[in-house]
Amino acid sequence: MKGQHRLHLKAPDNWINDPNGFIYYKGQYHLFYQYFPYGPRWGTMHWGHAVSQDLVSWEHKGLALYPTIHGDQNGCFSGSAVEEEGKLYLVYTGVHYEVVNPEDPHTCLDDQFESCQILISSEDGFQFDNQNGKEVVIPPIMDPGIGDRTHTRDPKVWRGKDGWYMVLGSTLGEKQGELLFYRSEDLHHWTYVSQATKGPAYGWMWECPDYFPTEGGDVLLVSAMGLLTNEEKEKNQSICFPVDFQEDTCRIQIPDEYQFVDYGMDLYAPQTTLDKEGRRTMIAWVRMPKVTEGGWIGMFCSPRVVEAEGGHVYFRLHPNVRQAYSRKAADVCEIGKDGYMVVVDLEDGEELEIGGYRIFREGNQVCTDRSRVYPGFTGAHLRSETPELRDGCHLEVIVDEHFIEVFVNDGEYVISNAVYGLKNEIRYQGSGEAELWVAG
Ligand code: FRU
Repeated sequence: MKGQHRLHLKAPDNWINDPNGFIYYKGQYHLFYQYFPYGPRWGTMHWGHAVSQDLVSWEHKGLALYPTIHGDQNGCFSGSAVEEEGKLYLVYTGVHYEVVNPEDPHTCLDDQFESCQILISSEDGFQFDNQNGKEVVIPPIMDPGIGDRTHTRDPKVWRGKDGWYMVLGSTLGEKQGELLFYRSEDLHHWTYVSQATKGPAYGWMWECPDYFPTEGGDVLLVSAMGLLTNEEKEKNQSICFPVDFQEDTCRIQIPDEYQFVDYGMDLYAPQTTLDKEGRRTMIAWVRMPKVTEGGWIGMFCSPRVVEAEGGHVYFRLHPNVRQAYSRKAADVCEIGKDGYMVVVDLEDGEELEIGGYRIFREGNQVCTDRSRVYPGFTGAHLRSETPELRDGCHLEVIVDEHFIEVFVNDGEYVISNAVYGLKNEIRYQGSGEAELWVAG
């Protein structure tokens, strides 16, 4: 049925990018997203809205936010959600173009725009007063020593011990990515507290920052623009760091070494929230290179539990997804709308091939090759690999028509790739058993 999705939430039609406002609120998960309703391409951003009981089955609920005021005239960019006294609050970036592209009213000419941060609330999570309910809580930043008037966006808000905190992505002089921290007593009035940066080697602008504590340590996620200089891979990549954050000063210590959030290099703009059981759960946008046969483009990865442990950040398959594939099957007949899961251990030199998508072990690395299921591309977009694994090579592979996720050693690393034209077959060359699990 149109409007309902199992496992991976996909664009209802046209175009989606980042997940926004991800929250468990009043008995269900709400997931908003960047949505362009007028065609299968990026343009003036609206917020679409979907809900789920279990993070596995999703239902689209139509539009939540759309441009109505000067500050968001040209787009409601990414942001996050919090709950306070029963109300749902969304904080997002509004953009206003100073010069619209004369050839396309949905884009701006030469980055001539400004950005502000906007608050809007709802009593039930569904109704938002787009006409009268928006409040600009942080106007465009006018001090280039603090942050950028144009490229400051994607507020992530959380409740700390003694108030509300916000982290924004920004750039120092369009040369290095930057974080800006703000504090508030009431979500309406925000005070700038501090900034943090790692230098130009870590990208020129940091989008969609997310900071959160986990039992094994604090974690920072950022989507770094221009991180990779290799022409053949996407230059913008989501990375993560185990960090140390001091709430009273908003000082953050970011190490030099980072991990990719996903080694398939297709995920971007991840956002986390706490699930019903208190697990830190992440969803991210899957960048797809071309419009599907259904006329839509853009989807999300399956939910992942993020945990720091011993200085490493793990992205584990969410238990609800594993539970969704509870019936062991003998053979794959069709991918269908529910997809399936394959569980296998690989020794050096062994290989699992799923519908043309190759997953193989070389020494202590897991490698993937999608050249047979990614038509029209050559070179570095096709092959991915994890860093060296610590011990063993246990794989849980989630397969959907347009997306394959390989969870290695319970989230030590993940490789996920968009695919086109998967065949209904599984081939395994190895000494153990490749188990097939389908929806129960
Ligand atoms: C990341 C991003 C965000 C921005 C949004 C606009 O993909 O560029 O920084 O808010 O997408 O759609």
